[in-house]
Amino acid sequence: MKYRDFTLNDFDAVIDLWKRAGLILSRSDTMEGLEKKLKRDSELFFVVEEDGRIIGAVMGCYDGRRGWINHLAVDPEYQGRNIGREIIMELEKRFKKLGCEKVNLLIEKNNCKVQGFYEKMGFKTDELIFMEKWI
Ligand SMILES: CC(C)(COP(=O)(O)OP(=O)(O)OC[C@H]1O[C@@H](n2cnc3c(N)ncnc32)[C@H](O)[C@@H]1OP(=O)(O)O)[C@@H](O)C(=O)NCCC(=O)NCCS
Repeated sequence: MKYRDFTLNDFDAVIDLWKRAGLILSRSDTMEGLEKKLKRDSELFFVVEEDGRIIGAVMGCYDGRRGWINHLAVDPEYQGRNIGREIIMELEKRFKKLGCEKVNLLIEKNNCKVQGFYEKMGFKTDELIFMEKWI
């Protein structure tokens, strides 16, 4: 298992992985959108490879105060083998290196089954109201 920073050459493979893992993609998940993301903390956006195949990916972001975890996914064929855990540990290491003290994430309501995974990784829920607006 090898970590490698995401590059735009990985676009098709990573979009395919996210879709197969059941993530909801948005209008930001285009080649242009991911290119924009790479202009900021690109070291937090990485893939996991095995035998040259991408089997996991995560898009971390650091806003200078909090770290955010986006689009974490492990290939369904490789789930349940601690790869998700390893990715979280690697991402936390990279966040700490940037001086980040707290990491947040959001779970889509229709994906609440994944909450148990994050609890095992040490995350807790908080009673907040999430608001958003496309501009
Ligand atoms: C969530 C996901 C990344 C977990 O990756 P994974 O490699 O399958 O998980 P791991 O094997 O590292 O699991 C680590 C621990 O979490 C537990 N776990 C994994 N998925 C879980 C779940 N859905 N509910 C409760 N516990 C879970 C495992 O049993 C394991 O526990 P253990 O230490 O007691 O053995 C993966 O299932 C996935 O890609 N899901 C679809 C995409 C998704 O929902 N991403 C999150 C978006 S917010």
